[in-house]
Amino acid sequence: MSSIQEQISTLTARLHHLNYQYYQNDVSEVPDQEFDKMLAELAALEKAHPELALPNSPTQRVGGTITKQFPTALHRYPMLSLGNTYSEADLRDFDERVQRGLEGAEYAYVCELKFDGVAMSLTYQNGQLTQGVTRGDGTRGDVVTSNVRTIKNLPLHLRNTGPTQPEEFEVRGEIFMPQPVFAELNQEREANGEALLANPRNAASGALKLQDSALVAARRLRFFAYSYLSQGRDFPTHSAALEALRAWGLPVSDTWRKCHSLDEVLEFIHYWDKHRFTLPVATDGIVVKIDDLRQQELLGYTAKSPRWAIAYKYPAEAGRTRLREIQYQVGRTGAVTPVALLDPVPLAGTIVKRASVHNANQIAALDLRLGDMVFVEKGGEIIPKITSVDLTARPADSQPIIYPTECPACGTPLIRPEGEAHFRCPNDRGCPPQLKAKLEHFVSRKALDIDGLGAETVGRFFDLGLVTDAASLYDLPGKAAELAQLERMGEKSVQRLVAGLEASKQVPFDRVLFGLGIRYVGETVAEKLAAHYRTVKALEAATAETLAAVPEVGGVIAVSVAAWFQEPQNREMVERLRAAGVQLALTGEAPKAQSDRLAGQTFVLSGVFEQHSREELQQLIQQHGGKVTGSISKKLSYLVAGDKMGPAKREKATELKVPIISETDLLAMLPDATTLPDSEAEAAADSALDDLTAPTPPQGGQASLFS
Ligand code: IVH
Repeated sequence: MSSIQEQISTLTARLHHLNYQYYQNDVSEVPDQEFDKMLAELAALEKAHPELALPNSPTQRVGGTITKQFPTALHRYPMLSLGNTYSEADLRDFDERVQRGLEGAEYAYVCELKFDGVAMSLTYQNGQLTQGVTRGDGTRGDVVTSNVRTIKNLPLHLRNTGPTQPEEFEVRGEIFMPQPVFAELNQEREANGEALLANPRNAASGALKLQDSALVAARRLRFFAYSYLSQGRDFPTHSAALEALRAWGLPVSDTWRKCHSLDEVLEFIHYWDKHRFTLPVATDGIVVKIDDLRQQELLGYTAKSPRWAIAYKYPAEAGRTRLREIQYQVGRTGAVTPVALLDPVPLAGTIVKRASVHNANQIAALDLRLGDMVFVEKGGEIIPKITSVDLTARPADSQPIIYPTECPACGTPLIRPEGEAHFRCPNDRGCPPQLKAKLEHFVSRKALDIDGLGAETVGRFFDLGLVTDAASLYDLPGKAAELAQLERMGEKSVQRLVAGLEASKQVPFDRVLFGLGIRYVGETVAEKLAAHYRTVKALEAATAETLAAVPEVGGVIAVSVAAWFQEPQNREMVERLRAAGVQLALTGEAPKAQSDRLAGQTFVLSGVFEQHSREELQQLIQQHGGKVTGSISKKLSYLVAGDKMGPAKREKATELKVPIISETDLLAMLPDATTLPDSEAEAAADSALDDLTAPTPPQGGQASLFS
């Protein structure tokens, strides 16, 4: 073996092992930095020697494969569905059928949770993942292997522990989007004026169909295995197979139980009815399976589903309460959303006071009236929705809901573009909530991330007439004296704000483009557009037609972008941003975010530094997602102490228990490639690091699965 090959295989084995320890056993054997460093090394070696790269390399997790059209494959064993029941009586019937079928023999069940995601069939050959296929029509599905390889808790390579592995076998399980990831994604989509994903299942299924596996990686999907299939009789029972899968490194949720009677099954059902909402994975019921595989065979199948298993579905949690009022919210893009204000009612672990009613059609379809008793349900969604009206309880004085024809905020007549469900306020240049939301978006973390200027402050400035649009923010330093007079502002806050505005001029063009708040231009689209056009000038000159030809930019987005840049006021604002010094082009020098390593951390730089100037250190921190501020507070993550730092700063930091670190300590927190001169191999290492969200330390239980 060549020494490069040896290096690749040693690194690969080590990374597979660390991944297993992290995702299966909640153990971090090495600090995150070290893991990332090894991964970057491997990526660099693979880039330099593509012929030696292994198909299941841990670097596959970051994605980067583009599939224009997914090929299809026949399922060796058809992917069936399960019979559903909704009542305990149905379960008793099932149990009686099983008893009769097994002619009085003893039997046990395995109860599992029914995960609400997308079914996936994985093939392993000689311990390596070779294929991932969707259910499709049950007989033939889409081959989505490169997308599946990005799922971090799914082993690309199995361990040699536990029972002997057959040369080839299939694992089935569910791919899902953890609830917290789903909530975050939808918040972003809402802020960007994009259509919301209905539930985590749709989100997972949509993600698996993406053509660019790097985008799939960003969706942070996870996998749970629940079936094992092979040509031989490898295990006597389903539970033994589950244990083997686990021993080989596959993620099996440890929520399953063996049950020896229907009563035990019911106990399992009742237990999880209460506790399932504490899991990060959406569940919609439980699955009861006969444990003994010979007994499974004996019971056999109907045309559609096994006779040895059944799914019990939990009823959707519903609450009944009174509808008090409908409020109309105007979003950043002018969409008017009705929100129902309810008498508080407990539902699925929270107290619900508001519910969504989607749009005007929905109000009519439900025949909603103010004062009605309504049923609210929480599906996979975060915001509960009104599902029906209790007409038997309609009060005599209930009031019809009169949908506004004018914007509740600015009085402009609302419009409803053809094919859209929402009414919209077209006054995008004068409607206060729209303008305010645009400003909030511009300063937000994923856009210009202006330190000292949160949503609340910017809203206040807007109300006071101090700012009108994004470009006007950069006039604030000229109003410093006026700002310092404001309540809860003070000189220090103003200084911080001025420094924050200054620092935002280093934010790369793609994030500025995202910050402009053009409808349908989310973070990813902004990145693609910036990478393609490189300058705002080129983007302004693009037509809807040429825009639509950019990968990941569809017709709707293209029209929206072209229309935005055709508006003279928008062009004029872009010019003012340019004059202020904001990045409107990708340049060689423009620092691009290189990692998330320091995300959520704030630093104060004080004194004189040896290896870098203070400005350089500030840039480095920002490039890795951190923030630099001027004042020491309890919330500060680190004080970076240089030479000749004032004693007052040190004292304050000590008093507030803020860790004091050196320049060397700070540099050690960054990925290694950061400080090295640029070369092709390092550029490859960098790009591998770009997509890796730094894993957070495991918190016990299954928490790390979802981090
Ligand atoms: S076993 C013969 N176990 O439910 C069918 N399925 O209709 C064997 N599902 O889309 C399926 N959690 O993806 C099984 N613990 C679990 C499950 C589970 C979710 C899904 C499965 C399929 C549907 C069955």
